[in-house]
Amino acid sequence: MQNTDVTGEELSANEKKVLIALQKLGGTGLFRDIVKTGGFKEENEAMNAVSWLRYKGMVTTKEEVKKLYSLGKEGEKLVEKGLPEKRALKYIIKNGGIITLTKLQETVTKDEMPIAVGWLKKRGWATIKRERDKVLLEVTPVGKKMADGETEDEKTLLFLKKHPGSTVDPKVIGLLKTRKNVVEEKDVVSLEVSLSEKGKQAVEKGLRIEEEITQLTSKIIKSGEWRRKKIRPYDINVFAPVISGGKPHPLVALRNRVREIFLSMGFEEIEGNYVESCFWNMDVLFIPQDHPAREMQDTLYCKKPKKIEVDKKLLNMIKRVHEDGGDTGSKGWNYSFSKKEAKRVLLRTHTTVNTIRYLYEHPEPPAKIFSIGKVFRRENLDATHLPEFYQIEGIIHEEGANFRQLIGVLKEFYRRMGFEKIRLRPAYFPYTEPSMEVEVFWNSSWMELGGSGIFRPEVTLPAGVKNPVLAWGLGLERLAMLKLGLNDIRSLYISDLQWLRDTPLL
Ligand code: PHE
Repeated sequence: MQNTDVTGEELSANEKKVLIALQKLGGTGLFRDIVKTGGFKEENEAMNAVSWLRYKGMVTTKEEVKKLYSLGKEGEKLVEKGLPEKRALKYIIKNGGIITLTKLQETVTKDEMPIAVGWLKKRGWATIKRERDKVLLEVTPVGKKMADGETEDEKTLLFLKKHPGSTVDPKVIGLLKTRKNVVEEKDVVSLEVSLSEKGKQAVEKGLRIEEEITQLTSKIIKSGEWRRKKIRPYDINVFAPVISGGKPHPLVALRNRVREIFLSMGFEEIEGNYVESCFWNMDVLFIPQDHPAREMQDTLYCKKPKKIEVDKKLLNMIKRVHEDGGDTGSKGWNYSFSKKEAKRVLLRTHTTVNTIRYLYEHPEPPAKIFSIGKVFRRENLDATHLPEFYQIEGIIHEEGANFRQLIGVLKEFYRRMGFEKIRLRPAYFPYTEPSMEVEVFWNSSWMELGGSGIFRPEVTLPAGVKNPVLAWGLGLERLAMLKLGLNDIRSLYISDLQWLRDTPLL
């Protein structure tokens, strides 16, 4: 908190009024007394001033919840008529100090009877005696004395009649509360304000209250009033609330940015399903069925449905490609391809499944396609790994497409994302040749962002694709880490409001 040195100059007229009122009240006062003493017309003005003074460190405040009491409906009646037991007591004394219960009915109503008798006994003002078939009430010495005195609760009732909304001794209130509707209780928060050391100093230096202009209006300017009056200087160090409006989550914003870039480079967007068969996710991509990536510990398989049917002709064709290369000119992997394995159900492990399916559906060039979608892997969650993450997938299918072009497109994409320095390193994927890994230079080291390459004939020929297809699959969250300066990839999926608010728009 910045507290500017206080000379009185930075204080508004209302703030000064509060300080002066507090001085008059001896340094500490209830808010409502400050309003009165300070001569405030509006409570609001005083409250604003107190808030500012507190922010400036010139006053401290304490809130106190108080219970205030007033007379209830029955309470008003009691004040008028007196307590039933008191009336009863006086009546008994008037009639010689002992009367029958029946006679008591001459002075208290039927409803009041049990109250009167009960309290007479409770207070020890009278005793009850049985004589033959009569019940008698006899005054005690205490009762005699009390006839002309005032009990604490009587005093309180009278006091509340004169001063509704007061605090009262809790013991007496306890007694009164046992009678229905006699008192009404209200919780009131009262604010106590005290001058701080700094506030005291300011007051001691002397405060001059001058009428000043706090807000310029066209009227003040036109009338020339501004020439005659003091204009309050702005305090540029003053606290102002930060307004955080709604905005897309950083990852959503990044996804949109990636989308814009590919669209602007002439690509078209496609989508696909999360649940796929092994056939489309792996087999058509010439990933051998015993490839380590297919293991249970890497891929999430679904129990239900048990299988996804695959077109018979396609299945037979791919079986041959895997076993001996089929018509692709390849020798294949030389193992026995399982159709059952091909129909197994999984959560897609990469979005290459989207682009390969697209090629099967659109074997004619040219095509520039991209997709941004979630993929699922059986990965342990840590600072750089997520079991669910987004891939930025793309292909270029055209006559004469080549490796240099692939490098150029990737470089251009990252350049537009704000990364000038990327490098491509030889890598291996069963479905591309050549294959490359994309790395970007960030914070003095290289970080892996994804894979790319040119689809092998074993992948393209069965789809009826005769021209080269450039392909890539890049991580979105890794990119987000770099863009947002995160050390932990998991931050992207923790809804930390402060972080979300503080993160600038991409
Ligand atoms: N599918 C690969 C992955 O998930 C990336 C890739 C896509 C590699 C296309 C080459 C071609 O890592």
